[in-house]
Amino acid sequence: MVQIVVCVGSSCHLKGARLVVDSFKNMIAEYGLEDCTELQLMGSFCQEHCTKGVVVKVNDQLFLEVTPEGAGEIFQKHVIPYLTCKVGRSKYASNYHP
Ligand code: FES
Repeated sequence: MVQIVVCVGSSCHLKGARLVVDSFKNMIAEYGLEDCTELQLMGSFCQEHCTKGVVVKVNDQLFLEVTPEGAGEIFQKHVIPYLTCKVGRSKYASNYHP
């Protein structure tokens, strides 16, 4: 199970948490992982690192000052390699044609 938690507290919200969430949603769709039961994307209240927002946690790993572009990198390096479900339009599926 990979759990992505994006802080949507007021400070992170002002720093673009919504765009970071959208970036993760786009990556999930791009990889065809909407139905992957090993992956959870969720929001959280303040993670107590407000000056370093947007704060994202992937399982126990904390990422600070995350941008929408940075979310894509986190997804590719810290989420995709830890999933075994490769479904839909996954880049790893044999029928994937970009
Ligand atoms: S609002 Fe995100 S860390 Fe405080």
